Amino acid sequence: MANEFRALLLEKSEDGVSASIKQLKDEQLPDGDVTVSISYSTLNYKDGMILKGVGGLVRNYPHIPGIDFVGRVERSEASEYSVGDKVILTGWRVGEARWGGFSEKAQVQSDWLVSLPKKLTEKRAMAIGTAGLTAMLAVLEFQSNGLRPENGPILVTGANGGVGSIAVSLLAGYGFEVHASTGRLDLSDDLKSIGASEIIAREELNAVPERPLLSEHWSGVVDTVGGDTLAAVLPQIKSRGVVAACGNAGGIKFSATVIPFLLRGIKLIGIDSAMCPIGQRKKAWERLSEDLSAAVLDGLTKTISLEDLPESAGKILKGKIKGRMIVDVNA
Ligand SMILES: NC(=O)c1ccc[n+]([C@@H]2O[C@H](COP(=O)([O-])OP(=O)(O)OC[C@H]3O[C@@H](n4cnc5c(N)ncnc54)[C@H](OP(=O)(O)O)[C@@H]3O)[C@@H](O)[C@H]2O)c1
Repeated sequence: MANEFRALLLEKSEDGVSASIKQLKDEQLPDGDVTVSISYSTLNYKDGMILKGVGGLVRNYPHIPGIDFVGRVERSEASEYSVGDKVILTGWRVGEARWGGFSEKAQVQSDWLVSLPKKLTEKRAMAIGTAGLTAMLAVLEFQSNGLRPENGPILVTGANGGVGSIAVSLLAGYGFEVHASTGRLDLSDDLKSIGASEIIAREELNAVPERPLLSEHWSGVVDTVGGDTLAAVLPQIKSRGVVAACGNAGGIKFSATVIPFLLRGIKLIGIDSAMCPIGQRKKAWERLSEDLSAAVLDGLTKTISLEDLPESAGKILKGKIKGRMIVDVNA
């Protein structure tokens, strides 16, 4: 029915958080000046945590998760958007503090939206999603800090994940030599096919080094793992190198010394895609639409339905998802 929609609803009880598909009414949607008829969402690591009730990210239940989506404007009170416009939403704590994209409909603030770039299909926009935006924001930091391919190789950790695999492909496309660290060496050929020239076993980078400086290996790092892996790479960064801290798949705490910062002038830059200013988002999405190979993107992608989400959430938390999972909310 026109004023109803289907969504994956999380409910909390004494037994924990449970997920089920429910038919809801438009009046139940949160306030917002734009209503979007959603085409696709995606499964990100944070969605996995929310679906499994890990990390206390959701305060209010019942809740619709899904931190990103693409779709068409169904109702608009905002001058920038008209009915039928194709729009992308990532972050802004949607799917966390507000109802999100694992749903046929969402109601949001218009200033959170980005228009779908002309060169992207809706499905490819979600193949990119929050993960791809994060990878692009890291690349933009490298570029604004003057890193060039001639400065030396870039390391990507957690390379078979969503952020990691898009970072590998983007960086290779910009001419960088890319070293990919992974716990899944059986997928090494896949990483090479998207542009990695060297594969490093996860175990080589999961211990805190005893010395504050080691041989210089990388001019930059896209780190999706955090924890001891971040501690392991900092002493190995080349002079004036840049580390983009994107994720915590391996842990939130890391120990470091100030020595690489003082003697090599390295920079540690945090990447926050969720609250990133709208101007930077628009720039990142334009660059993603121009520079990411559609064939590579299609090869990194698997499509699932709302019903498949609870099982896939368990897999993403165990690091068992390769590339990107698109959610076809109308399937
Ligand atoms: N800063 C931001 O704005 C932002 C945005 C999106 C995501 N993130 C964060 O970035 C990280 C990656 O997100 P994602 O969506 O790409 O997730 P993902 O698809 O699950 O990828 C994470 C990858 O990390 C590796 N990994 C998993 N568990 C590990 C462990 N215990 N030790 C070492 N490596 C491990 C695995 O790669 P291999 O199989 O190759 O080892 C896994 O594929 C998450 O922490 C997420 O919260 C941050």
